[in-house]
Amino acid sequence: MALKSGVNVASSEGTLGVLLPGLGAVATTTIAGCLAVRRGLAKPIGSLCEMGTIRLGKRSEDRVPRIRDYVSLSSLDDLVFGGWDIFPDNAYEAAKSCGVLAPSDLEPIRDELEAIEPMRAVFFRDYVKRLDGPHVKQGASKMALAEALMADIEAFRARNGCARMVVIWCGSTEIYEEPSDVHASRAAFEDGLRNSDPAISPSQIYAYAAAKLGVPFVNGAPNLAADVPAILELCRETSTPVAGKDFKTGQTLLKTILAPGFKARLLGLEGWYSTNILGNRDGEVLDDPESFKTKETSKLGVLDHILQPDKYPDLYGDFYHAVRINYYPPRGDNKEGWDNIDLRGWMGYPMQIKVNFLCRDSILAAPIVLDLALLMDFAKRAGMQGIQEWLSFYFKSPMAPASVYPEHDLFIQLIKLKNTLRYTKGDDLITHLGAEYYD
Ligand SMILES: NC(=O)c1ccc[n+]([C@@H]2O[C@H](COP(=O)([O-])OP(=O)(O)OC[C@H]3O[C@@H](n4cnc5c(N)ncnc54)[C@H](O)[C@@H]3O)[C@@H](O)[C@H]2O)c1
Repeated sequence: MALKSGVNVASSEGTLGVLLPGLGAVATTTIAGCLAVRRGLAKPIGSLCEMGTIRLGKRSEDRVPRIRDYVSLSSLDDLVFGGWDIFPDNAYEAAKSCGVLAPSDLEPIRDELEAIEPMRAVFFRDYVKRLDGPHVKQGASKMALAEALMADIEAFRARNGCARMVVIWCGSTEIYEEPSDVHASRAAFEDGLRNSDPAISPSQIYAYAAAKLGVPFVNGAPNLAADVPAILELCRETSTPVAGKDFKTGQTLLKTILAPGFKARLLGLEGWYSTNILGNRDGEVLDDPESFKTKETSKLGVLDHILQPDKYPDLYGDFYHAVRINYYPPRGDNKEGWDNIDLRGWMGYPMQIKVNFLCRDSILAAPIVLDLALLMDFAKRAGMQGIQEWLSFYFKSPMAPASVYPEHDLFIQLIKLKNTLRYTKGDDLITHLGAEYYD
């Protein structure tokens, strides 16, 4: 991550281009929200960068600036959005058909949304079996497609006078894939691009194009993209920050809030059964078993890492964990999730908790996309390259170096994020020791 204390962070002046592969529900809700906030029509609820604060020094000092006033972040007024999609609908048409936001919220910003036309996508049907669209690039090889994406990024930069750029994958979840030889090094990956190796997915081509240009890349979906040695090697060479994967929104957000609490009080877990109904295009894509496997792997990982069954065999050695997602069109983007949690207390007595979360997927995801755009740009300006583990807070499957397990506990993740910001400013880290109050 190449993090230095009290580092000189380059200026946040100028336009920040935010390019989103996949102009669907999440992307258009993010863009529409930013435009509405900019015009004073809405509040950026859920965004740590826009609404969050950070404590500095001792509790007795009462120094609690807003994060945005503490570190230099781009202003919302300086963001310009673009993207790619396999359908040619502009951001207004796409937002309207996704049905997340009411027409009364879209109409005041209609002109700005209509001006955002997707660029032609790099897409292979083998990777998203439930989708097909006409708005795709043709190229002689996967390398030619990567070069076409780089040309898009550069043309967008020039057209909009961007000082800096970030790319955040908001495209559909691709099928489950394990890293293979073609992902093992930059040289092998570039050979694979030239030979159109079938193991190279569209999202990996976007990740490669961004990293090659030194543009920060985030993967908001659970599929394999930047989390392969080839892309990480390229990031080291081009000083590019990467982060992922899979935005932590509804059910998994609650899981990473509740599970640390159970563990803190040493309550045992017998089983955790999670089921969802979801009716948007994401739900339709996840109805394909191969895309669902990618999502399931991402959702199942969190409990093992938080509960540490090997360290607490009596409490967590044998719990049953299942996650189901059912595509149910009438529900649209308004997902409903049910969790049944079987706990054990003193002397093994059983207890149950039922959680019924009627959430809105894209409403939960949009502030995450905004924060990641601002913080990944900050990371780039602070000279931080490679995996940005301090941004694990935002992900279901946080990327981490091979030598450590990923941190899933939401509260540890938040402490890590804020301490990283303090560290870049050369301020004292908050340890919560507090011994000085008793001296
Ligand atoms: N909403 C959430 O809470 C949430 C949480 C975590 C992860 N995600 C992930 O974020 C992604 C976006 O979710 P969504 O609800 O907006 O889905 P969506 O189906 O509304 O949007 C995805 C868009 O990506 C496009 N697309 C697919 N492949 C592409 C490619 N190769 N290049 C360019 N565009 C491509 C599709 O045409 C579609 O418009 C999904 O992978 C989803 O699993 C969403």
